[in-house]
Amino acid sequence: YLANLKKVTQYYVATAFIALFIGVLIGPLQAFNYAGINVYENPILKALLKSYYQGLSLHGVLNALVFTQFFISGWLLYLPVRDMGAKINMKFAWGTYIMMTAGLLIAAIPLLLNKATLLYTFYPPMEGHWSFYVGATIMVAASLLVAGQVILTWVGWKKANPGQVTPLVTFMSVSLWMMWLVCSLGLVSSALFVLIPWVFGLRPGVDPLIAKTLFWWTGHAIVYFWLLPAYISWYAFLPKQAGGRIVSEPLARLTFVMFLLNSTPVGIHHQYADPNISNTWKIIHMFLTFLIAIPSLLTAFSIAGSLEDAARARGGRGIFGMLTHLPWKDPVVVGQILAMVSFIGGGAGGIITASFAFSPVIHNTAWIPGHFHITVGTAVTQTFMAVAFWFIPHLTGKRLVAPKVALASMWLWFTGMMIFAVGMHWEGLLGVPRRTLISAVALPIYKEGYMHSTIPMALTGISGVILLLAGLAFFYVIFATLLSPRRDDAEATTPLPYSESISPAGTNLKTASNLVRATEPLLALWVVAFALVALMYGPVLMRLTQNASLVPGCNFYSTVQSEVGCK
Ligand code: HEM
Repeated sequence: YLANLKKVTQYYVATAFIALFIGVLIGPLQAFNYAGINVYENPILKALLKSYYQGLSLHGVLNALVFTQFFISGWLLYLPVRDMGAKINMKFAWGTYIMMTAGLLIAAIPLLLNKATLLYTFYPPMEGHWSFYVGATIMVAASLLVAGQVILTWVGWKKANPGQVTPLVTFMSVSLWMMWLVCSLGLVSSALFVLIPWVFGLRPGVDPLIAKTLFWWTGHAIVYFWLLPAYISWYAFLPKQAGGRIVSEPLARLTFVMFLLNSTPVGIHHQYADPNISNTWKIIHMFLTFLIAIPSLLTAFSIAGSLEDAARARGGRGIFGMLTHLPWKDPVVVGQILAMVSFIGGGAGGIITASFAFSPVIHNTAWIPGHFHITVGTAVTQTFMAVAFWFIPHLTGKRLVAPKVALASMWLWFTGMMIFAVGMHWEGLLGVPRRTLISAVALPIYKEGYMHSTIPMALTGISGVILLLAGLAFFYVIFATLLSPRRDDAEATTPLPYSESISPAGTNLKTASNLVRATEPLLALWVVAFALVALMYGPVLMRLTQNASLVPGCNFYSTVQSEVGCK
């Protein structure tokens, strides 16, 4: 049974990294574009990608949607099931993997054929081939089934263990799946009631604003769905890997509950520039967004405390003496620490991005990709990369190939992303737009208008080269490890690295701290999360529906001239 559970998890993780590999290869081409270099005239590239926008759509979808979804589904299935010592229905687990992969393949065909060049937000009235929407919906539906399986397994565990505290990793995973069920409702309703009926011609047109609002219902909270699996590693495993203890288990639980309640009713901060949504709602969503900083700050201080504890346990004294005593040769630890450092900048930039007053300055500029590459592109992705260095050996019994190359890849990725972030934020502040083949389309304007952005453009270009090297080094290690022969009994050589001070199984709820008792009723908290979201989105959507106006579908990014335009 365990071998089978490990195998399905391994399939999820391997599929995730194959998607990331293809997505990451396209990234540097985009970075060169933002350095003013147009590589899209190259005949070999032209044969592979019909346009910059096809590449950008593939990059965004594969990295941000496919990689994260597959990795998280494997990670958040395996960890709680092991944590509870539960036996799940393995046929169902394989079924959801196969369904998710089938969805991916159905969506991938139009993407590869340039029939779904819609960027990763697929805002209507841009219209792609129906199979893209159907495939993406199947993929999301599969993740909801994984969520259901884990939550029901936990409900069974609660029944079998009355009066006991839910083990920490299970608690974090279950609350996160609950959050995903709340936040994915936006995208699911958009797919079922707006996009799919429209692309099949059952509706005469589409209301772009309703679709966009439903998209951001999911689209902002999804970033926490990506981030919190990294938090699980930071809270539950990193302290042990660094040689220390978790600082406060109750605070970790509180963090996850705050995200469950507060992640979703914040999406309208992406729509400050949109009409027909009142300023009152925009400001309410802005304040709710700022509230999200609290659990992130709790995490920052908690994990910094754990790392301090680790360094002291290893003999470190004083501020700098302590820093030198962390295991800087271990790619698993280094990758995660660097990921967290990048998140400091990402979080601070996020507060600016979410501000009603600042948002117009950076809206739709290069600042935005600059911001989310140090959040999802580094804090999340680099944590998953570092986790893979122990998780793949744990799942497979294979040994990590070339640990030094793995370590180098972590430093290179971090350095590249930091330079990228400086370049792109800076370009954004100078007014360079995002999602534009700026190196070719607007060359004359670009030359005159953006000459003052030479330094940030150069930084962005340099970062593209560094990130390419980082990616090649990382994927060499991962794929060479996956393809190497099995050597160890992984349960003995690479056990799950639980932090020592995590409360042992069987802890009685009555003797637990007040905070643990207050956060334990997850089902009730889940109902509150649904209610909050209904309250914060209901009136907005009602007004949008009352004033709905349908427009025909358009094709903006086709390379065939006769296809460009609206129906
Ligand atoms: C967009 C570069 C890795 C997710 C972009 C853009 C650049 C870029 C320059 C902006 C393009 C534009 O607005 O026209 C890179 C490089 C990478 C990398 C050099 C590393 C080699 C990643 C990773 C993720 C990611 C790891 C997420 C896991 C995205 C997303 C977009 C994007 C979602 C937006 C696509 C859109 O606007 O539709 N990337 N990226 N990237 N990137 Fe990356």
